[in-house]
Amino acid sequence: MDAAVVLVLSLCCLLLLSLWRQSTERAKLPPGPTPLPVIGNFLQIDVKDISQCLTNFSKVYGPVFTLYLGMKPTVVLHGFEVVKEALIDHGDEFAGRGRFPIAEKINKGLGSPCDPTFILSCAPCNVICSTVFQNRFDYKDQDFLTLMGKLNENVKILSSPWMQICNNFPSLIDYCPGSHRTALKNAQYIRNYLLERIKEHQESLNVANPRDFIDYYLIKLKQTTSTTLRYALLSLLKHPDVTAKVQEEILHVVGRSRSPCMQDRSHMPYTDAMIHEVQRFISLIPNNVPHAVTCDIQFRNYIIPKVSLSLPCCTSVLLMLTGSQSCYSPLSYLVLLMAYTALR
Ligand SMILES: *[C@@H]1O[C@H](CO)[C@@H](O)[C@H](O)[C@H]1NC(C)=O
Repeated sequence: MDAAVVLVLSLCCLLLLSLWRQSTERAKLPPGPTPLPVIGNFLQIDVKDISQCLTNFSKVYGPVFTLYLGMKPTVVLHGFEVVKEALIDHGDEFAGRGRFPIAEKINKGLGSPCDPTFILSCAPCNVICSTVFQNRFDYKDQDFLTLMGKLNENVKILSSPWMQICNNFPSLIDYCPGSHRTALKNAQYIRNYLLERIKEHQESLNVANPRDFIDYYLIKLKQTTSTTLRYALLSLLKHPDVTAKVQEEILHVVGRSRSPCMQDRSHMPYTDAMIHEVQRFISLIPNNVPHAVTCDIQFRNYIIPKVSLSLPCCTSVLLMLTGSQSCYSPLSYLVLLMAYTALR
């Protein structure tokens, strides 16, 4: 058989098929002028005056009719009554938006739906980061994204129904698998991350020029007598009778309703003595800081020249002291007293 005949025959088949499809489709749609295959009602429409043309069609087919603009049917709603009935009374069903290819081309996806969650959580997170870590992060920074991911995940887990169950049956936390384990792991990750940053800060800390919250924190930490406190706690644990007496004095002089102040010191001889005793006992800086003589001096039977250093060995002194002569600053007294008060 000739190739041209095959082509014509198959085209005829396609034509018949499309006619058949169109007629079955049209049977369900509102009436309208009979369309031609492929081009539809194109030839029946006066493109110079489309709205008049539609008015003319509505006179023949009624206020709701079907036009084929190409292969696709378009249902035309003509007149106030039907437009109102469709867009107001059936507003939800008619709320969809038809395709408008040229506008799509112009907009190239602008105005397509977008989720602002990410950018809205990045912004405040970075404000906090710049306060705490000095630097803000790029929104694509992997460290930043991981940190934020873990924080977000934990917020989600902590507000889940499973968390309510865990809070009511705490033994589940230790013995059951579940999302709470992820929350604990995430918290550990965040803690490790912070510890690393703090370590970095410690190495590059300049007390004269604090850069951020961590620096201020480290400086404050240095100012407190944390080692003394640690030893004091240890000593008090070892001597519960002393602890009880100190507690009683604090309760009697300071009470529970206010913070301690310097004036309390003179009214608390036992606590004052205890703090002195802790300092004497632990001998925190056994050899003191080096001193130097300011001029040649005859001391006992020796001449000590100006250049030499002297190390007043504290331990040797502390072994003999019973308290009040050792000197510590009023500030450290207050810090210690506050710490004890907080511990009571
Ligand atoms: C509308 O119908 C009128 C009268 O039948 C006719 O004169 C006019 O040309 C038609 N207009 C269009 C745009 O089809």
